Amino acid sequence: MAKDTVTITDNSNGKSVEVPIIRGTHGPPVMDVRALYKETGMFTYDPGFLSTASCQSKITYIDGEKGILLYRGYPIEQLAAQSSFLEVCYLLWYGSLPTKDEFEEFSSMISHHTMVHEGLRDFFNGFRRDAHPMAVMVGVVGALSAFYHDSLDIHDARSREISAHRLIAKIPTIAAWAFRYSRGVPFPYPQNNLGYAENFLHMMFSYPSEEYNVNPVIAKAMDVIFILHAEHEQNASTSTVRLAGSSQANPFASVSAGIGALWGPAHGGANEAVIKMLKLIEDPKNINKFVDKAKDRNDPFRLMGFGHRVYKNYDPRAKIIRQSCLEVLKELKVNDPLFEIAMKLEEIALKDEYFIKKKLYPNVDFYSGIIQRAIGIPTSMFTVIFTIGRAIGWISQWQEMITEKVQKIGRPRQLYVGAKTRDYVPVNER
Ligand code: SDX
Repeated sequence: MAKDTVTITDNSNGKSVEVPIIRGTHGPPVMDVRALYKETGMFTYDPGFLSTASCQSKITYIDGEKGILLYRGYPIEQLAAQSSFLEVCYLLWYGSLPTKDEFEEFSSMISHHTMVHEGLRDFFNGFRRDAHPMAVMVGVVGALSAFYHDSLDIHDARSREISAHRLIAKIPTIAAWAFRYSRGVPFPYPQNNLGYAENFLHMMFSYPSEEYNVNPVIAKAMDVIFILHAEHEQNASTSTVRLAGSSQANPFASVSAGIGALWGPAHGGANEAVIKMLKLIEDPKNINKFVDKAKDRNDPFRLMGFGHRVYKNYDPRAKIIRQSCLEVLKELKVNDPLFEIAMKLEEIALKDEYFIKKKLYPNVDFYSGIIQRAIGIPTSMFTVIFTIGRAIGWISQWQEMITEKVQKIGRPRQLYVGAKTRDYVPVNER
């Protein structure tokens, strides 16, 4: 038997098959089971994909045991400390860090795509003012394919690049307008002389009636938040974008599907759910009661912002965002009681046998809500902020999927446990 194979034996008939092992740069190898059904007549079974690699990728590597996160090989700690979100966008899309000239050209390209078609402004008027901004994002980002037909040829590299530029550039404008629409205040235009995060904050909080200068500490914190949320391997929303894109749907429609998946409180909606949970706890003296609820298997309550499918150690992003949080609260002289509760909750949970045994640590969502509250971003916008950061990850993973040598539509099978074959019974005989 070749050394790089696994033998699977069906003990019901003694038949064995050799399954090739494929090894990557880092992380667990995979068993290549693509021929398994043809050779054994059996499917693999893995609801939730706990043991399934859905693709090969060069974009992100996560070591959940060691709390490692690399974007194109670069540690997230170094990128958060030394890079900028726009440079991280370049890195994720093109695969390497840009030279000075390459970055200047890329930044100029992005800043000249920040405006959106005036027809798209009217699109907002169809929504109720109290619509959740994520509902607006799903609709408006999907509608980009109703305005930018010239860059939808998924088999053309230049079209894919233009779509990526448009998405990165326009998503902050759309997000800020979703917020402005909910408040009934006018839509500002992007200011191309501002940096990416600065421009977003300006579109969120400026008023035509007065000068608005973005606090550089806040702009830096916003930029770090975007970097930390940019990419995360085959999470639920990225897998959704890949699956939608595998049908050869256009990139905006595929990303819109990803936005829908991110909205869930088990995924990107967790940052909003964390704030709701901290408000529910209300006082540090109630923490133990809620920790007990989270441990009770008969109680659906979970500690939002805790646990992760991959990280069985502290989420490296949570460490960085916690530090950023302290800096912003200090800069703004904000004394947020929810931050006190969060730190106390973290301290109690990390010492609790249940959380230690199940390896439940704070994830990126645990502190991101608190820092956004300090910046003045409303809770309903937290997952929209996540969307702005993750858009580059989605579109980079989409491109990697669509340019695979053998690009196949994603179509999983199932274990059927329904009714046996039976004949139709006319209604008067039932
Ligand atoms: C994100 O995948 C990604 O990369 C996502 C993300 C990204 O950047 O894209 O990192 C962003 O989505 C972060 C996660 C945000 N979600 C939350 O904070 C919601 C709270 N967390 C849980 O819902 C849960 O931890 C998940 C969904 C994050 C992970 O769920 P898994 O991997 O399916 O784990 P599980 O639900 O099977 O839990 C394993 C055990 C269970 O107990 P048993 O059934 O074994 O007795 O741990 C328990 C769970 O009950 N558990 C928790 C818990 N999370 C898991 N118990 C209490 N509180 C929690 N938060």
